Amino acid sequence: MFLGSIFKSTPLILSTMCGIIAYIGLKRREAPRLLFDGLRRLEYRGYDSWGMALIGNPSIEVHKRVGAITEARFLLNNNGACFHAVLGHTRWATHGGVSEKNAHPHLDCTGRIAVVHNGIIDNYLELKEMLLNRGHVFTSDTDTEVVPHLIEEEMKSGKSFGTAFLEAIRKLEGSYAIISACKDSRALLCAKKDSPLVIGVASHGYFIASDPVGFLEHTRDVIFLDDHELAVVTPESVSIFNFREEKIKRKQTHTIDWDLERVEKHNYPYFMEKEIMEQKETVVRAVLQSEDTIKRVVDMFNNAYGVFFVACGSSYYAALASSYIFSKVDRKHINVVDASEFRYYRDFITPKTLVVAISQSGETADVLDAVKIAKKKKARVLAITNVMGSSLMRLSDFTIHMNCGPEICVVGTKSFTAQLAILELIAHALMGKETEVKNAYREVSRGIEEILNEENRTKLDALAETIKDKEHVFCIGRGVSHAIALEAALKIKEVTYIHAEGFAGGALKHGPLALIEEGTPCVVFAPEDETYDDIISNATEIKSRGGMIIGVGSRDHDVFDNFIRVPSLPFGTHLLSVVPIQYLAYRMAVLRGLNPDKPRNLAKSVTVK
Ligand code: AGP
Repeated sequence: MFLGSIFKSTPLILSTMCGIIAYIGLKRREAPRLLFDGLRRLEYRGYDSWGMALIGNPSIEVHKRVGAITEARFLLNNNGACFHAVLGHTRWATHGGVSEKNAHPHLDCTGRIAVVHNGIIDNYLELKEMLLNRGHVFTSDTDTEVVPHLIEEEMKSGKSFGTAFLEAIRKLEGSYAIISACKDSRALLCAKKDSPLVIGVASHGYFIASDPVGFLEHTRDVIFLDDHELAVVTPESVSIFNFREEKIKRKQTHTIDWDLERVEKHNYPYFMEKEIMEQKETVVRAVLQSEDTIKRVVDMFNNAYGVFFVACGSSYYAALASSYIFSKVDRKHINVVDASEFRYYRDFITPKTLVVAISQSGETADVLDAVKIAKKKKARVLAITNVMGSSLMRLSDFTIHMNCGPEICVVGTKSFTAQLAILELIAHALMGKETEVKNAYREVSRGIEEILNEENRTKLDALAETIKDKEHVFCIGRGVSHAIALEAALKIKEVTYIHAEGFAGGALKHGPLALIEEGTPCVVFAPEDETYDDIISNATEIKSRGGMIIGVGSRDHDVFDNFIRVPSLPFGTHLLSVVPIQYLAYRMAVLRGLNPDKPRNLAKSVTVK
């Protein structure tokens, strides 16, 4: 469980969740395949570009792309070439936009030194200025690129690669997990401070990676590096040096006793729980869109006459929720249409229409169908998706990447909150207020952490026990919370197979109220906004007919039989309110003996109409 404690206690790393991996060993011919497979395993960390450096003789071969790692398959038929070492990187952009030039690995001026890095180098501007003044030529906008040039500069004075690497590391401030290769050296060098880095000890050589997931199919024997440690890794040996204590370190090798799937779940019993818990990071990553992305999107909205949001399932509910925000913030009307219904509006579509297609998988047939219809009408198409290289991305004029890492559980959780976060960002970006949203989402992240703390999870467990065998569960809300109620009901029905329905609070008295019986659970979303008084009176209507009221909001009320507190924030409050119900639904499913990751009859991506 040692590794689990590392993952569970990992502090909120707002900088990047890039993945780095390297191999050095006897499998010189298979090295590109080992690297490709390792990078595929690290895709869950979220990325927008990837790169590889193959250390051959006489040169270092570098391949970098924006998009999905699957495009690297061409490397696998490398005509039997042998490589002394290989290193790779999945990049999630922080410093420098999403582009091939900014993808790692980065090289020095001579092309002899390659570096991959996860973290943020806080003092890179002053280092870059020093290096530029000494004639170094940079090819990217990243902080990372200062590292190979620093090593090169140190080697100019005759230092060995190892000594030069150490001196370069000593100049860095910030967080880093760095792996470097030099074409004239037998060793891979790596160093760690604040970003994770582990060494896999295989029979045929060594792996170095951000996460054991990258190499677990080859070895479970792992050396965990600690902060301020540097390792020299050759095909035969590992030597570790603490450069703050100036001491050689003898490190213990741990054997991870998990199967690969268990490690990919990061010690959680189900992907659904892991992905619910990841939201404290993924909502922040969702809004950290680059400036050029935001500019492109704002231009698309400003040049449009008529906007349609098309999506299915949870993605549709995220779109519906955001339509209230666009109305309030931008006085803009958004036509929100279930993608399967879009074709019946096609006569209304013109070349001035903007169609925003929202899909986690980017492969939902109904969404792709809607986009093809839109394109036939010459409408502009903006995609919001989580899968680089997906069909939706390739069909669209421009794509916003959700950056929430692969969502394995069939039931959408982190993808829903990422979509809603991005849509809230866009609504405010149209008013030039994107920075306020970006800054505010650290508070939203802390809100998620509070909602999902141990005490609250225990309370949700008890509530799940209370309602897990009910025949019906209803969810109501008004305004944005109407869409949240629909999404909450979808979560419950998908994983527990209990009949759950969401309604607008005002719709109840027009029929659904007839469904309420003694003890019928009803989730009432009551945020501190203009809907509060009216939704409380709707709750009272239900209570007077015997309903059991579960209030979700920042303020308790006598009408609530159960109260789930969520903080009231200027941004993201509605997104927060779905999180406890995600967890409640998850626990209800587990208590009912069901597998929440694979609900009956459902697929992760509905690729049929
Ligand atoms: C969400 O929990 C469901 N799995 C489902 O409704 C999903 O949201 C829908 O199929 C759309 O998927 P997409 O976002 O990949 O297009």
